Amino acid sequence: MSFLDVKDLKIHFPTDDGLVKSVDGLSFSVERGKTLGIVGESGSGKSVTSLGVLGLHKGGRARVSGEIWLDGEELVGASAEHVRRLRGKKMAMIFQDPLSSMHPFYTVGHQIIEAYRIHNNVSKQVARKHAIDMLGRVGIPEPQRRVDAYPHEFSGGMRQRAMIAMALSCDPELLIADEPTTALDVTVQAQILDLMRDLQREFNSALIIITHDLGVVAELSDDILVMYGGKCVEYGTTEDIFYRPEHPYTWGLLGSMPRLDREPTDRLLPIKGSPPSLINVPPGCAFHPRCPYAEKTGGKDRTEVPVLAETEGGHLVRCHLDRAERRDLWENEIKPALETQ
Ligand SMILES: Nc1ncnc2c1ncn2[C@@H]1O[C@H](COP(=O)(O)OP(=O)(O)O)[C@@H](O)[C@H]1O
Ligand code: SF4
Ligand SMILES: [Mg+2]
Repeated sequence: MSFLDVKDLKIHFPTDDGLVKSVDGLSFSVERGKTLGIVGESGSGKSVTSLGVLGLHKGGRARVSGEIWLDGEELVGASAEHVRRLRGKKMAMIFQDPLSSMHPFYTVGHQIIEAYRIHNNVSKQVARKHAIDMLGRVGIPEPQRRVDAYPHEFSGGMRQRAMIAMALSCDPELLIADEPTTALDVTVQAQILDLMRDLQREFNSALIIITHDLGVVAELSDDILVMYGGKCVEYGTTEDIFYRPEHPYTWGLLGSMPRLDREPTDRLLPIKGSPPSLINVPPGCAFHPRCPYAEKTGGKDRTEVPVLAETEGGHLVRCHLDRAERRDLWENEIKPALETQ
């Protein structure tokens, strides 16, 4: 068993318009010291997944089923109170927008100190010293002075660093970062990603990075899960996903990766159409209305949900095309097209 094992996780929301199947049978695992990237366009169920792992849907209207094993303990069936105690101590989250998770009326230092003292029986002075240390560790200059600043006095990049300091102040064994750099400019993005990688090595935590941009997880992740319409469509090592991808949606994501040497609007091969509504997911393969190869499988795409099947050595793909055909398409059409762009 891995440090984190998620098995057949389903998170559905009953609404007036119908049942929203935000996460629909997701399985993955992460070891201590390893990083999993979860990638997919907006609306594919990434944030709902991360909140689910942290137990933040408990008590809400979400219907959650499946299993979440953290260090040998099952959390879907555990009490909200118990999971709340694990948050901060054993697992923590970094959000896209630090302002939404930091209190505007308290200093940054106060918030780190309080978070630390919930789980550690130490004096305010000791906690303050720890907060200053953490702010220094995440690269905030003059931490002795900045500890008394308010969140709005920090730049976006500094706020993100402060939030990382807050999340790491309790030495969590599982850290989930949901679009941690999306709001930042490219240079600051790279700095924050480097910082996360260094800290993860130092703390040996299990890290999940969630993003809509494959480029963000390329260097950081050991494994990558590609998500579409609440389901995993491809799962493999980072090498599998970048060098031998087999799912047409993954090809699309690779083609639409923003590149540093191009204008942000200049995408290689944008995926046509938009992600499905999770109330009315298209029947069969959810990607079929947008897939350039849908015709190749003789109508099956519209009627049968493809299974997530192993193609080789733990590399999983959910597509009706046969393996030889997928590999042929990748080698002879997609890869050359990406290389010449
Ligand atoms: N509390 C909720 N009630 C109903 N639907 C929700 C709720 N939270 C998220 N959703 C829906 O679940 C889907 C996935 O959302 P989300 O996980 O935020 O996507 P992502 O993070 O991949 O952009 C979206 O269609 C969203 O509208
Ligand atoms: S199953 Fe068909 S529609 Fe779905 S990704 Fe594969 S080829 Fe495309
Ligand atoms: Mg999200």
